[in-house]
Amino acid sequence: MKRVGFVGWRGMVGSVLMERMLAEGDFQHIEEPVFFTTSNAGGQGPDIGVDIPPLKDASDIDELKTMDVIISCQGGDYTKSVFPALRSGGWDGYWIDAASSLRMEDDALIILDPVNMDVIKDGLADGIKNFIGGNCTVSLMLMAMGGLFREGLVDWASVMTYQAASGAGAQNMRELIKQMGTIEGVVLDELANPASAILDIDRKVAAAMRSDEFPSDNFGAPLAGSLLPWIDRQLDNGQSREEWKGQAETNKLLGASSIIPIDGLCVRIGAMRCHSQALTVKLSRDVPMDEIESILAAANDWVKVVPNERDITLQELTPTAVTGSLSVPVGRMRKMNMGPEYLSAFTVGDQLLWGAAEPLRRMLRILIE
Ligand code: HSE
Repeated sequence: MKRVGFVGWRGMVGSVLMERMLAEGDFQHIEEPVFFTTSNAGGQGPDIGVDIPPLKDASDIDELKTMDVIISCQGGDYTKSVFPALRSGGWDGYWIDAASSLRMEDDALIILDPVNMDVIKDGLADGIKNFIGGNCTVSLMLMAMGGLFREGLVDWASVMTYQAASGAGAQNMRELIKQMGTIEGVVLDELANPASAILDIDRKVAAAMRSDEFPSDNFGAPLAGSLLPWIDRQLDNGQSREEWKGQAETNKLLGASSIIPIDGLCVRIGAMRCHSQALTVKLSRDVPMDEIESILAAANDWVKVVPNERDITLQELTPTAVTGSLSVPVGRMRKMNMGPEYLSAFTVGDQLLWGAAEPLRRMLRILIE
């Protein structure tokens, strides 16, 4: 694997990928890193501690074809425009992609090696060349709950999500903060006066949030102080596309021989970059709680079982606690009123790390080592 091409390294997911690759010394293992650009060909690439050539044109198929591996965080439109041309032009290299466009293709695998290394190894042995990062909620759910799936203990799961602004993009993160600032701004005087009436504050806040002036171009509706119970496109069956991905991608990622039903509602909330998920898991048998906790904790190096106790939950099982970290805590676990085969769980994970960049850099390491 001599030449590794990077596309979309300047965007949000790409920047997290670069940070992680530098932190892990990944570039020391790449003979020739080559950086591509959609806007600045000939320009200077990022400082990665080794010499790199000037930036190449990301639409130059002939140049791309000289790569042994291409890793793209440029987005689905780029994948759709470039990937078919590369393959039809005879390119036989490895394509690693953060975008969803190719995820469900037969000749592509969804990558999350702490969970599906066996599927990845089989795929490599079978000559698979396209390795695609999973949907962030799917990857984060499986980092947390992978042990139960691996043991065949999940009959079905209902997954209710609380998804952060970052999943919608960098501009959305900015907009969320602007919305928060706008809300505080309309009641600054009242907040400074302890005698002001809370219902007056509430009325002013609601009026500001409903006003046409409220900054909501990116989300299309107020998120701060509210929530948005729809993510991605509307499908004909009543699901959002984000909800559809839950079952489709989980089963594909795991290489499941029979479909494990996964369904739920996906909701955007005003967190910055951590997705949270509340699960109801129908177990295939009445597994004791201590056994469940051991299975989950042993599944990978990043999952962390949080005891179902108030103080530690509020300290460790929140987006604020987890943001910027690879740790994937899972807690609020108990048997539910429905019966001993029904398990509740709540998990939080950084949407830009395990939900996006981390599986890509790890796949690259698998290929180059
Ligand atoms: N679709 C996800 C979201 C992010 O909107 O939060 C990408 O996986």
